[in-house]
Amino acid sequence: MTTLSEVYRNDLMTDRHITPLDFDSIDRVPESHSWPPFDEPLNKIQTCDLRDSLIPVIDLTNSKSRNLIGQACETWGMFQVINHGVPSDLVKKVESESRRLFALPAHEKRRVLRSTGGATGYGSARISPFYDKGMWHEGFTIMGSCVDDAKVLWPHDFQRFCDTMDAYQNQMRLLTHKLLLMILETLDVTKVEIVWAISTHDSQSALQLNSYPSCPNPSRALGLAPHTDSLLLTLLNQGGINGLEFFVEGLGWSQVQAVEGALVVNVGDLLHIFSNAKFPIVSHRAVVNQSKHRISVAYFHGPPVESRVAPSAKFQKPCFKSLLVKEYLSLKAKHFYEALSLIRT
Ligand code: OGA
Ligand code: NI
Repeated sequence: MTTLSEVYRNDLMTDRHITPLDFDSIDRVPESHSWPPFDEPLNKIQTCDLRDSLIPVIDLTNSKSRNLIGQACETWGMFQVINHGVPSDLVKKVESESRRLFALPAHEKRRVLRSTGGATGYGSARISPFYDKGMWHEGFTIMGSCVDDAKVLWPHDFQRFCDTMDAYQNQMRLLTHKLLLMILETLDVTKVEIVWAISTHDSQSALQLNSYPSCPNPSRALGLAPHTDSLLLTLLNQGGINGLEFFVEGLGWSQVQAVEGALVVNVGDLLHIFSNAKFPIVSHRAVVNQSKHRISVAYFHGPPVESRVAPSAKFQKPCFKSLLVKEYLSLKAKHFYEALSLIRT
């Protein structure tokens, strides 16, 4: 069986794109991380209704939630969910354990640096090679168990971190399946296709801890540069601090308002393909701020990498070619934003 980490093994990055800055030792944004001026999000500069986030906040206990989710996927490819059933004390623990990790001195974090061609561990965003400037960000990627890395970081006290991340991944898997089932029901696809999307057998997932230290000059630094998520669905916990923005065609960047206890859900490339582009693909980025150290936790879910992805059989005019999931991920690792246009029919 091929796994997500094996697919990423072919994608060799240089050390410059793997090692984050030592944020404790710098008090200004270096030239290597100084971006040309970028647009402010609309809802920060306008005083009209755009001040709030455009995307809906959906209460999962609402009997109409399935339709609301279907509509949100079609309109924005993104929404927030509340009353989702993930225990709030677990969410808080994931955040505090993530803070414990990123608070370690740089030389200790670098002991678990992602290897060249590796998929898990500490390091810069995987999209780094596609941009000239570095990002005001450090990440830690987990696929399955994180015990090997955690033992290196805390030889006598790794269990707390691992138990928390395991419990959170379990909760995310359950919630992702519930949401995907609702989304696929609104698309009215076949049972076989539903099994492909939500079966736990061979499915691929990753937990990404993101750290955005407070920044002396937030107008010149970018936390995470624009990108789309590659797999089917992403669930992001923003941790109560604004920073996530998404791009609306014809409008520009818009802030996703941090809502207490909410998770941001967005359509990934594979779901965009499967929906035959009925669900738009959401380009998003993260900005940084001067006073707060922002932590976010993203969970990515995808189908088996050896399976095929194509528009659902219910679409008579598929606008994408069929290909193996691992082939798509390799195209994405090489061509980034162009990957989708390369598989258009
Ligand atoms: C990601 C991502 C946004 C954020 O990890 O893919 O888009 O706000 N994160 O951290
Ligand atoms: Ni993302």
